Amino acid sequence: MTVVVTGSASGIGAATSNALRAAGSEVVGVDLRDADIIADLSSSEGAQSAVDAVLDRCGGVLDGVVLCAGLGPHVPDPRLIIAVNYHGTVALLDGLFPALQKGANPAAVVVSSVASTHVTWDENPIAAGGEDAALAAAGEYGGALAYAWSKNAVTVNVRKRAAEWAGAGVRLNTVAPGSIDTPLLQGGLDDPRFGEAIRNFTAPIPRRGTPDEIASLILYLLGPQAGFVHGAQFMIDGGVDALTRPTKF
Ligand code: NAI
Repeated sequence: MTVVVTGSASGIGAATSNALRAAGSEVVGVDLRDADIIADLSSSEGAQSAVDAVLDRCGGVLDGVVLCAGLGPHVPDPRLIIAVNYHGTVALLDGLFPALQKGANPAAVVVSSVASTHVTWDENPIAAGGEDAALAAAGEYGGALAYAWSKNAVTVNVRKRAAEWAGAGVRLNTVAPGSIDTPLLQGGLDDPRFGEAIRNFTAPIPRRGTPDEIASLILYLLGPQAGFVHGAQFMIDGGVDALTRPTKF
């Protein structure tokens, strides 16, 4: 099984790459550094160059795609957060779809976030392409908004592809982690705007998740046991979603 993993150099992407290799898959990692394919997914040119390099390397045939590359709310430029988390992710998804259609039992998993539920698509400025104007009004917490909008948009865009992708024989799901111990989370903890709130919030399971726990769910979703699982979002958050939105699912 040949699987592309973006964000493979760190955190959830690295754990997923390791787990896939341990299970016998061939992994093609894509990242800014320390990867098989070095690409910057924050621009359409960078995303296209990643797609071209992946297709070249795998001969136009892929069995799995896992899109982990992303930036956290603490990153100073909120536009960059939307560029990587949303535009770059969707560009890879669509660019690699033809190769997945030629794969064996093909499936893709996109790493979204519990933050995808912090806004609705109706109030998400990305829906109408109005994110720049909305960010101009957002002030110092623009990064948190950009993060929630980008993750909401990515989940919506996965769900909107459910009919077309199933028709082509390719399964597609999202995972939505809560706080997971990675450099991205550490960036938030170190940021005076967000650190205290992250530290003070306790999930029903009172610890942070590990990248390996997310990797386990991703491997399940890629595999044959998940053959009827499609267009779904899986919360993996120690119970945060159930705690904060018990009536919404
Ligand atoms: P991480 O910072 O450990 O890994 C992210 C990887 O994405 C890094 O290797 C980085 O180089 C890569 N990346 C960033 N910008 C890129 C670009 N322009 N082009 C190519 N690669 C780029 O972070 P983590 O936590 O493993 O994040 C993985 C995904 O999980 C992200 O999409 C994140 O939003 C999501 N997530 C993480 C949570 C957490 O608490 N750690 C919670 C919910 C979602």
